Amino acid sequence: MIPLKRRKVTTEQNASHANSAECKFPDVAIFIVERKMGASRKSFLTRLARSKGFLIEESYSSSTTHVVSENNTGDEVEVWIKKQETEGKVSSSSVSLLDISWLTESMARGSPVPIQDRHRLKTSPKPSELTPVIIMKSYACQRRTPLKHHNLFLTEALEVLAENAEFSENEGRSVAFRRSSSVLKALPYIVRTMQDLKGLPCLGDHSLRVIKEILEDGTSSEVESTRQSEQFQAMKALTGVFGVGVRTADRWFREGIRSPLDLIDTGQKLNHAQQAAVSFRLLGVQYYNDLNTPVTKKEAMVISDIVEKAVKAVLPGAIITLTGGFRRGKEVGHDVDFLITHTEEGAEEKLMPKIVNYLENQGLLLYQKTTRNSYLESKDGPARPPSNMDRFERCFSIFRLEQFKVDCDTSVKASLDSSGTTDKNEESYSGSSWRAVRVDLVVSPYSQFAFATLGWTGSKLFERELRRWAGQEKGMSLSSHALYDSKKQCYFRADSEEEIFSHLGLEYIPPSERNA
Ligand code: CTP
Ligand code: MN
Ligand code: MN
Repeated sequence: MIPLKRRKVTTEQNASHANSAECKFPDVAIFIVERKMGASRKSFLTRLARSKGFLIEESYSSSTTHVVSENNTGDEVEVWIKKQETEGKVSSSSVSLLDISWLTESMARGSPVPIQDRHRLKTSPKPSELTPVIIMKSYACQRRTPLKHHNLFLTEALEVLAENAEFSENEGRSVAFRRSSSVLKALPYIVRTMQDLKGLPCLGDHSLRVIKEILEDGTSSEVESTRQSEQFQAMKALTGVFGVGVRTADRWFREGIRSPLDLIDTGQKLNHAQQAAVSFRLLGVQYYNDLNTPVTKKEAMVISDIVEKAVKAVLPGAIITLTGGFRRGKEVGHDVDFLITHTEEGAEEKLMPKIVNYLENQGLLLYQKTTRNSYLESKDGPARPPSNMDRFERCFSIFRLEQFKVDCDTSVKASLDSSGTTDKNEESYSGSSWRAVRVDLVVSPYSQFAFATLGWTGSKLFERELRRWAGQEKGMSLSSHALYDSKKQCYFRADSEEEIFSHLGLEYIPPSERNA
């Protein structure tokens, strides 16, 4: 039975705001959910609350601000609200879903109490809350890409396709897959549905198709058939030979060679000149197992000590920096990269032959090939954009690393045919006193040291993206030697990586987050 004074109001007011004329808190429109509470308790609470000046709505509406319920979970109340909405009663607005305790406390106080966390009904996170809309910049050098990420099951698949594209020298296609993969590496969450990819840059149709298949079926047929294909496997095995690029591997494949072992067999059929030409490749074959066994951080540290000692012996005061993947925090690498300089400009000239000599005399080198620095900075700027190929004094080498007690079980053994032609390699693993390790040494003048550090830290995609950003967005040209402003026709100086990022108008990304 509605009290008399309220009935008067009803005639002039919307039914759902029956008591608003006399309510003391018009901004707090409360709806009490009957579900689980029962009609009689609901009407009791309604009467009591109204008598204390609270605005209690007859029905849930778009003006409702507080939904109060008893013994319901937040999810249950949400379902109930959804139902009201789909029945067309209300369009959704933001309401607070509260426990009855909020209302009883408010009535006891005589006014709405501030909502505290304990008053709110707990609801499970929505997909949109789990995967917050993140702003993903489109250049990898604008993003932070940690080493460990959440989407390895997708990135590995995309990288198989990238690698396969490299094997057929389709660079555009390869880079497209690498860029998609890199975007997934930068995501702070696991991709579970295609919805999770909304608004992300760099994801082309082909990549999206592959991702969709993996999300739906667990694997992508294209990726799996690529992985299984004879050509892919042979190209992977053959390019795994030190000094062998895609061209050579592809020619060998077309000649019927499938593995490094086939190479040894056919190598014997080569004439003298051909043999000389491939000799260093055969050397790669010889150390195939070693060179395809990841170098551990521990081994990298031992090599660091050796290099440091050698460099300091021939040029006291030289600075040696570990670059490449290990500087980015990788646990393993395909090689160990070093950058060497000296604060006194010019002191680093002719340094490489001295280092190599020292190492050779110590019996530490199994192979080395030094290329000279031909970089010259001209006042007019580079005649053509600096190429990706570096022009420092650079030494590709293979170290003979004495096996300190390496835990053999942790070193993943490469899978060379077990027929056993490579006894020496077998030996150098299990029990032999040494193993072969690829080492890259680079010498840079101090004035270029920051550029060289940035350029040799990688990852390769990160470097590629830095150069693309410089060229396309800034009209600049970046190399491991310099940064050149094509418009102003001048070089930028930089003493640190931070300064280079700043010249490029980029936020500084530390090495550990350049794992694009
Ligand atoms: N680099 C280069 N010029 C080359 C070869 C390599 O500038 N001719 C740079 C690459 O861009 C990369 C860095 O050297 O930034 C390291 O290259 P690499 O050793 O091939 O790769 P890592 O990232 O170190 O990976 P891994 O651990 O497999 O060695
Ligand atoms: Mn490396
Ligand atoms: Mn390297």
